[in-house]
Amino acid sequence: MKTIDELIDEGVAGKRVFVRADLNVPLDGSVITDDGRIRAAVPTVRKLAEAGARVVVASHLGRPKGAPDPQFSLRPAAERLGELLGAQVAFATDTVGDSAKATVAAMADGEVTLLENLRFNAGETSKDDAERGAFADELATLADLYVGDGFGAVHRKHASVYDLPARLPHAAGGLIATEVGVLKKLTENVERPYAVVLGGAKVSDKLAVIEHLLERADRILIGGGMAYTFLKARGHEVGKSLLQEDQIPAVQGYLKRAEERGVEFVLPVDVLASADFPDLKTKAPAHPATVAADAIPADLEGLDIGPETRKLYAAKLQDAATVFWNGPMGVFEHPDYAEGTRAVAQGLLDSPAFTVVGGGDSAAAVRLLGFDENAFGHISTGGGASLEYLEGKTLPGLAALEN
Ligand code: 3PG
Repeated sequence: MKTIDELIDEGVAGKRVFVRADLNVPLDGSVITDDGRIRAAVPTVRKLAEAGARVVVASHLGRPKGAPDPQFSLRPAAERLGELLGAQVAFATDTVGDSAKATVAAMADGEVTLLENLRFNAGETSKDDAERGAFADELATLADLYVGDGFGAVHRKHASVYDLPARLPHAAGGLIATEVGVLKKLTENVERPYAVVLGGAKVSDKLAVIEHLLERADRILIGGGMAYTFLKARGHEVGKSLLQEDQIPAVQGYLKRAEERGVEFVLPVDVLASADFPDLKTKAPAHPATVAADAIPADLEGLDIGPETRKLYAAKLQDAATVFWNGPMGVFEHPDYAEGTRAVAQGLLDSPAFTVVGGGDSAAAVRLLGFDENAFGHISTGGGASLEYLEGKTLPGLAALEN
């Protein structure tokens, strides 16, 4: 993989450099609620601009259906990127249309343009190679060089991630280099004990990574919505809690294999439960009950790990040498159900281990709960991408940069 420094050494001044970033940030209307991914994109964009490149930044945002949809416009991201760079960022109101062509043509050396959401064009995500290729051909006319830096999207075989680098001289940006360097530490010669905390809603999203971890981790702590399928698989009733009944046989298989391999599976011993899902808009007090994890009443739903589990999980992280955490422990967006996720974040901070927070909701939770992100070993910008990397899959956006 060519590095961005090598690309700059070869000369980028006056050249149009397409930077595929991941600016897929959460929005409340047009207000960015967590700008972590935009901040992570800044160093590569700045480096290229300072080297005199004309930097054409592109990204997806949300999942529009292949046509313009104002609620998924990247315009707020252009403003935020400009604030962070301390420079004007021009915004093209389309991807490969008149606005993009004119905006890019008008750029001077060292200037930055952000294109509108790539997913407003159906070719971006198409499963059809020809349709994707045709969009990549059009994108290629906007640039002389390509820098892949959208780590959060490298697991997507999309036109701007996979097909475009085949059409332009390319290099990996600084963010991708950092992310891959950290994830390598979790897959090659990992320092032990290796503890992993997995949360989030669905077991089905984590099956492949659990498969991988059963061969590598020493200890796996389970929280979030997926914990209830594990509790049920151990024979406990889970009331109205989130349950993936069809995954119970797979989970029972994991529990058995973990026992055979000496991998410790740690499940909640108590949970915070309520008859109702909390109101995330008003954040009205939810008054949850603390109940034993093996005795969740039939009319209650578990929504966070309980106080005993918090202590247990924090203790299980203290003697680890490496910790990977992906997925919140409960409905952390509501203050009454944030303590489980907070305790795990604090547990990572208190542990002497090398700690990696694996993107998506857990990274957002760390920031939302007010933790200093620099205190963690690494906070990944990729949720799905970091999990797929750990699963050992070939990621299209990384493969494309290798060639
Ligand atoms: C993410 O949020 O994990 C990345 O930006 C990828 O988004 P996607 O899951 O919509 O492809």
